[in-house]
Amino acid sequence: MADVEKTIEDLLTEGRTFTPGKKLRKNANIKNESVYKKAARDREKFWANFAKELDWFKKWRKVLKWKVPHSKWFIDGKLNVSYNCLDRHINTARKNKAAIIWEAESGESVTLTYWELYREVNKFANVLKALGVNRGDRITIYLPMIPELAIAMLACARIGAPHSIVFGGFSAESLRGRINDSKARVLITSDGGYRRGGIVPLKKNSDDALTDTPSIEKVVVVKRVGDKAEIKMKKGRDLWWHELMEKAHSYCEPEKMDSEDMLFMLYTSGTTGKPKGIVHTTGGYLVGVYATTKWVFDLKEEDTYWCTADIGWVTGHSYVIYGPLANGATSLMYEGTPDYPDIGRFWAIVEKYRVNIFYTAPTAIRTFMRWGEEYPKKYDLSSLRILGSVGEPINPEAWMWYHTHIGGGRCPVVDTWWQTETGSILITPLPGITKLKPGSATKPFPGIVADIVDESGKSIKEGAGYLVLRNPWPSMLRTIYGDPNRYVDEYWSRFPGVYFTGDGAKRDKGGYFWLLGRVDDVMNVAGHRISTMEVESALVDHHSVAEAAVIGRQDEIKGQAIVAFTTLKKSARHDDGMIEELRNHVAKKIGAIAKPDEIIFTAELPKTRSGKIMRRLLRNIAEGSVLGDTTTLADSTVVQSLKDQYEHLEG
Ligand code: WTA
Repeated sequence: MADVEKTIEDLLTEGRTFTPGKKLRKNANIKNESVYKKAARDREKFWANFAKELDWFKKWRKVLKWKVPHSKWFIDGKLNVSYNCLDRHINTARKNKAAIIWEAESGESVTLTYWELYREVNKFANVLKALGVNRGDRITIYLPMIPELAIAMLACARIGAPHSIVFGGFSAESLRGRINDSKARVLITSDGGYRRGGIVPLKKNSDDALTDTPSIEKVVVVKRVGDKAEIKMKKGRDLWWHELMEKAHSYCEPEKMDSEDMLFMLYTSGTTGKPKGIVHTTGGYLVGVYATTKWVFDLKEEDTYWCTADIGWVTGHSYVIYGPLANGATSLMYEGTPDYPDIGRFWAIVEKYRVNIFYTAPTAIRTFMRWGEEYPKKYDLSSLRILGSVGEPINPEAWMWYHTHIGGGRCPVVDTWWQTETGSILITPLPGITKLKPGSATKPFPGIVADIVDESGKSIKEGAGYLVLRNPWPSMLRTIYGDPNRYVDEYWSRFPGVYFTGDGAKRDKGGYFWLLGRVDDVMNVAGHRISTMEVESALVDHHSVAEAAVIGRQDEIKGQAIVAFTTLKKSARHDDGMIEELRNHVAKKIGAIAKPDEIIFTAELPKTRSGKIMRRLLRNIAEGSVLGDTTTLADSTVVQSLKDQYEHLEG
């Protein structure tokens, strides 16, 4: 944990606190701290009370079956997620309420009321059925942030076909890998997507991916960019979304799913090169996202809620779609980036729709900070009531800036810690109760038992260690798709009997949690999880590369930047052209988000006598910190020469 010591020092000096304002406290959904005690006394009852607020075709018989490391929640309960997000609202005053307000990059906008969204979802569910999709079949979705993405996922949920959404920024090869791992029968994509005025060639990427995907039978293509992308439709395989929808019937009976039936899988990076298909189920997941959306964001009927995440990531699944819609909220969905057509774009949107709850990532906040407070100042942000942060540790400076310049000093900042695997938020303030400390995610959500342990698994009352979870929670992943052993190895072996998060954290005197980042080989680059091994495999796949070691170096804006120490084959060119070629190669293999920020050529990599690459040393070199203990190195001169070379490069 040596590399996190500096951060801990910084955090230890952070003494500011912020209590919720009077008005906010008075109107908050949850005002009384007794919720923590009550939940701790009977966790099952606590979760069951949320479950009771949802609609079930058949009530569960038992709340939890737990045999480490396998949990089952709401045993024998039957429900449907699309029913809970749509049908149960359309016979209420919410029928004509906006479910999704979609803002395009161009500024065009579309509002779908609950009734309209319900009709579209029903129709698309019938389209899928007509294509021969059965309950249990997997569907891959590779779409930009357009309303059809929301419609497609809810339609999958309606017919019980688990979706696997692949972020539109991933490459054809990544898409192919995910399709083949899940053996999806149908792919839903679009002719293209808009990004900063340019076009992302999603259909072309799909065609490249589909050269070797035997499970795919049909491809449904949404027309988004039209003439701006040249695409080919393959006869017998490719079908236009709008043509299929024209003929579709407007009601589709929702499947009665078991609580434990898979709702979706979502691939995320682990510590090996191969992404893991995280499996989430119907009942527990819905209860988790429903409860946390309601409490963490202090959601009110009349709120306009905006989570800026792309639906291709878990935050978009849980907090753009399922959590807000299960609550009957109005969820804003934005197609574009914060800097297009100009860097005031997010604030223009907040003003345009009078957004009340705004949820984004620290990397975005730090970018806004660099752009300067004069941009948000130009807009009316007085509608904002709650601000959220997710995806990476938020440093106290960024927290303060967010609180002051976006929240006008009056909005609580809820720093929410969770993971693809946890399904919903697990460590977070509750805005009406929690005294906030800038940079701290504060306390576990009621009913969650988080702990910090040392190497041997012993609890650390005060200080830094590994973040673990001691008890099951409804929205926890059930397994890794097709790889049940990896589920046990990755999460339940480091500390037997408890869930290991892969994160480091510190607990202060007051029992507050301060997240310190990953302690495994997973990087967090601008809030995106990328494995060092994935990038290394992509590099050594290039014919000029002999060996590569990848590390995440601290970066002021992105949290971490990717640095690749690379040994080229003797015959290869060692020039800038090669650096560009390798960066593009990684983008082609994984996606642009994984492009190394720096590639350093080196004759050798520092290794232990047993041949293991010493990544810690490489990180120290890249961060210019003290090298520490090098006695286990096979050849200590390697490090000094690398250090000299790096310092020379950095000038
Ligand atoms: C990190 C995103 C500090 C953490 C929801 C975790 C955070 C990984 C926070 C999961 C936070 C997420 N403070 N770190 N508030 N939220 N993380 O699966 O390292 O994309 O393990 O899920 O992001 O990333 P994932």
